[in-house]
Amino acid sequence: MKQVKELLQEMTLEEKANLCSGEDFWHTKAVERLEIPQVMVCDGPNGLRKQDDKADHMGINESIKAVCFPTSSAVAASFDRELAYHIGEVLGKECQAENISMLLGPGMNIKRSPLCGRNFEYYSKDPYLSGEMGTSYIKGIQSKKVGACVKHFAANNQETQRMNGNSVMDERTLHEIYLSGFKKAVCEAKPTGVMCAYNKINGTYAAENKELLTDVLRNAWGYEGFVVTDWGAVKDRVKGLEAGLDLEMPGSDSSKVNDRKIIKAVQEGRLSIEQLDRVAGNILKFVKNAVENKDGSAQFDLDADYKEAVEAAKECAVLLQNNYDVLPLKSDAKTAFIGGFIEKPRSQGSGSSHINSNFVPSIQEIIRDNDNIIYAKGFDLDSEENDETLIHEAVTYAKASDYAVIFAGLPNRYESEGVDRKHLNIPKNQNILISEVTKVQPNTIVVLFNGSPVEMPWKDDVAGILEMYLCGDGVSEAVMALLYGEANPSGKLAETFPIKLEDNPSYLNFPGENGTVEYHEGIFVGYRYYDKKQMDVLFPFGHGLSYTTFAYSDLHVSKEKLTETENVEVSITVTNTGSVFGKEVVQLYVGEKGSKVRRPEKELKRFEKVGLNPGENKTIIFTLDASDFAYYETRIHDFYTNSGEYEIYVGSSSRDIREQISLTIKAKKELPITISRETILGELMKSPGAQEIFSQIKLKTEMENADTDVDAMGEGSREMAEAMMVEMPLGSLVSFGLMSDEQLEGLIQMLSYSNDK
Ligand code: BGC
Repeated sequence: MKQVKELLQEMTLEEKANLCSGEDFWHTKAVERLEIPQVMVCDGPNGLRKQDDKADHMGINESIKAVCFPTSSAVAASFDRELAYHIGEVLGKECQAENISMLLGPGMNIKRSPLCGRNFEYYSKDPYLSGEMGTSYIKGIQSKKVGACVKHFAANNQETQRMNGNSVMDERTLHEIYLSGFKKAVCEAKPTGVMCAYNKINGTYAAENKELLTDVLRNAWGYEGFVVTDWGAVKDRVKGLEAGLDLEMPGSDSSKVNDRKIIKAVQEGRLSIEQLDRVAGNILKFVKNAVENKDGSAQFDLDADYKEAVEAAKECAVLLQNNYDVLPLKSDAKTAFIGGFIEKPRSQGSGSSHINSNFVPSIQEIIRDNDNIIYAKGFDLDSEENDETLIHEAVTYAKASDYAVIFAGLPNRYESEGVDRKHLNIPKNQNILISEVTKVQPNTIVVLFNGSPVEMPWKDDVAGILEMYLCGDGVSEAVMALLYGEANPSGKLAETFPIKLEDNPSYLNFPGENGTVEYHEGIFVGYRYYDKKQMDVLFPFGHGLSYTTFAYSDLHVSKEKLTETENVEVSITVTNTGSVFGKEVVQLYVGEKGSKVRRPEKELKRFEKVGLNPGENKTIIFTLDASDFAYYETRIHDFYTNSGEYEIYVGSSSRDIREQISLTIKAKKELPITISRETILGELMKSPGAQEIFSQIKLKTEMENADTDVDAMGEGSREMAEAMMVEMPLGSLVSFGLMSDEQLEGLIQMLSYSNDK
């Protein structure tokens, strides 16, 4: 293919405009005259959904046989960057073999509410963790010279009114929570594509949002790839193009009409040819890279990749509860396996990410030869109603066994793209079954299959809980290995499991009304909220047990005072104090003490997964700089680190902090104070320049005199007066007769000048 610049010189206006939309559901357009081929994209993120024949939106028509890997909520629970990278690598190789130039994933939206129907496709409630996992996954795919496409940019956190809802939030929340994972992925992994979301953000559709697509994505983050619509997200094509949108997908009759609108806009002088060249150039660059990076030798080995999926699934499971070490199961103990999921384990979610799995053995198939396991169905997966006969059989089997393992969770109909959940319950018949079994069998273990949190009314009655999430085609093999201790659980929750739905910070504002959802909880999403309010939760963010135990010791910082240009090394030693090999996710959180701005108690800033043999220890060194302690400051429209005292917490979960240490930070520059009649004295007096001016104009003495007058107002009145002074706007100095209007104007000028210096 010729150089992009050359092609742009040779292309007609019509050819350029036509290139701005797809040929069909999955292909870009070819321009035969100039030997520009079409290239294909397909859905991910947890496998290849490549539709060969009839293409459609919601996975109704079959796609090719492929391997389903753990969905993103499961991958996030692994807290394992290498795993995310490796899954990306495998998928990249599969794409090469199937002639796919870009995989539509990862989904990087924040799981604001546990009700979002698509949560299984997203990583976490925490932007740092989402950013880390997404970045690794993208790097993995792109290491095979195939593009990844982060989606859905941005603030697409629910399925209710998913195509036209308006996500309304303040600037700080947008940047600190909803954009920062995308930022990391874009800046560090440089994805080939960014898919803009369907929804509006603060009133403007993502597909037409210049602030997002140009000011933030390209100008602030330096993005050089191309922006594709979510499928069917275009409203006003020309407006979108001007805002920074490149490719419209899918290709359809309506997209052809839009191509013509682009031509007309250029002809009428409403759109410059330079703007169209920029868009066509971005698309050509994608096509050219795809063509030049084609690896003809790549092969898609379904069997080998299935084995990879089994190994991946083992890394994602989270051992939520293990009273008196009920797990792992003893292989010679009589065990009742109960539940409809034994025949049909749930491995993935529904919608556009749905994979046509080649091979998903049932748990029943895996346990076939084990005489110590007896199987009872317990409940019907397709129904909510109790079946007394099934319960009776399950209870009888459980009573006659040493253990009962109940495979429970959310059936397919509960979790899907396109619909939000209405509650956090698992079906009623499953809850009843669990409670009946626990009455006869204290060694009851619940294994859960679900993409997002569920309520567990039986938590205190069961001995063990193993959260499998939706962990792909390897689910049955992985669950058996984990239950019997051939693999040791090492996942941690990438989200908080609340006790009940009503505890969730978004509860009162989800899914919104009349097409608008207001993110009133602001930055307090997930553990940021539960910790601030000191609430009890079912299981906290970062929680996950192991068949071994870990001790933490020797937390050190390389310096106790940090300036904005320096790094600090934080070291911690972790020891496996149990008797089997295990992996621990060491988590580092930071929190500002006595902050002047509203901040969470602590925020995840680093983590590392380490594998240790019994008795083995390892010292982990985390390197932080001042930006790791920053928040988004709306006065400067950027991240900012306050000078002050911070705490570094290191532990095994957000609520199991093992060691902590303090650190002082000196910011390079104090925040500018905007000086006007509205500026309060307390704010102003923090600036040394202002203090100097105040003393020069002898205002201080007058204020002191004013203070003495209020002694008559009773005990503590001096303190009260001082407090009132702190809150007094400059303008009030005139109202209280402390200076004239002219003097105040002069003072404001002097203060503004000294503040700018
Ligand atoms: C989904 C995207 C998906 C696209 C193509 C849309 O409805 O939101 O995530 O990649 O369809 O199937």
